[in-house]
Amino acid sequence: MNLLVTGGAGFIGTNFVRYWSRIWPKDSITVLDKFTYAGNYKNLNGLPGDQVKIITGDICNANIVSQLMTQADVVFHFAAESHVDRSLAKNAALVFGQTNFMGTIQLLTSALECWQMINQPRDFVYVGTDEEYGSITAGCYSEKDVLNPSSPYSASKAAGSLMALAFHQTYGLPVIVTRCTNNFGPYQLVEKFIPRSITNLLEGQKIKLYGTGENRRDWISVSEHCIALELVRRLGTPGEIYNIGAGNEYANLEIAQMICEIIGYNPEDYIEFVPDRPGHDFRYAVDTTKINNLGWTSFPNFKESLEETISWYRANRFWWQNAKREAEEFYSQLGR
Ligand code: NAD
Ligand code: DAU
Repeated sequence: MNLLVTGGAGFIGTNFVRYWSRIWPKDSITVLDKFTYAGNYKNLNGLPGDQVKIITGDICNANIVSQLMTQADVVFHFAAESHVDRSLAKNAALVFGQTNFMGTIQLLTSALECWQMINQPRDFVYVGTDEEYGSITAGCYSEKDVLNPSSPYSASKAAGSLMALAFHQTYGLPVIVTRCTNNFGPYQLVEKFIPRSITNLLEGQKIKLYGTGENRRDWISVSEHCIALELVRRLGTPGEIYNIGAGNEYANLEIAQMICEIIGYNPEDYIEFVPDRPGHDFRYAVDTTKINNLGWTSFPNFKESLEETISWYRANRFWWQNAKREAEEFYSQLGR
């Protein structure tokens, strides 16, 4: 099989390409990545060159996308502007809308053209997020619930997923949409909460908690997300949405305390409360019955996966040090 993986040099894309290359060594993988600040060539080091081809390019570029689409059997679409805090900046919605919505339309349009031209459908997996549903105080969202995104990031992701579903409804394009909870694991950029907190402590700095630290997220190990994506592509029904979550729900404060304890710092001394993120969603939660009915179960051993993630950041200081400086410059401008 030939895979086109957009955003394959980012956090989840990298883990996915590494996963697929290991499990299916005979498949060919083409990574299309713009290498924004979030993409990193080094992430794909060591993968077999005859199996994984890396193309630098924008998913909004019709020529590149159309050309790559002709060689693909399946598209896993990860490429996005992915950071909520960055999406809140003045004019950022334009950038997020361009990549997350317009870029998705370009991919869908090229997939459709290709199908019409060579009479072979391209399966299309849209990697969406639980943030598209918006915040929920108690209970959880099912795939049937109405979307209610809060930030320019989540609104642009919701728009992308609705357009993907429209291409199925209108043209029959075999699209599957997933909506996954917060990922963590190796190769995650240090601007995100878990790696930022780990690397702050590794540099002797305090963890910065937004607001009261009571906001809640469900954390899934990125390796489990990759397995779920393969499963929905194999067993899922085109035109359907599948929520993905792990049942590891914690308040941010609890996560910060766990990280302190694992690394060996006293949480009382190493957690600092900083001004809140504007429009900060309180809690995300999804019902995973539908993907569970396909045979997927998560094996939540959150503490163990967190320990492994911390070990990875300890061992790969060279990987994150430059990005860390840039991320902290960004946060210092925001006062958090
Ligand atoms: P990331 O920011 O680490 O990686 C995004 C990648 O996309 C980068 O390599 C970047 O260079 C590339 N990219 C950005 N704009 C591009 C463009 N115009 N053309 C081509 N490539 C471009 O993001 P991530 O955390 O790995 O998230 C990947 C996907 O998964 C996103 O679509 C995100 O919405 C979704 N998702 C993420 C999470 C999470 O917790 N991180 C949870 C659910 C869903
Ligand atoms: O839910 C899935 C989403 O999870 C993905 O779609 C996004 O791409 C991904 O970035 C993530 O969004 P969040 O906003 O939930 O993730 P983030 O890591 O930025 O923040 C997690 C929580 O931690 C959130 O409540 C804000 C808080 N936070 C974040 C940072 C960076 C802090 O308290 N301190 C911090 O330093």
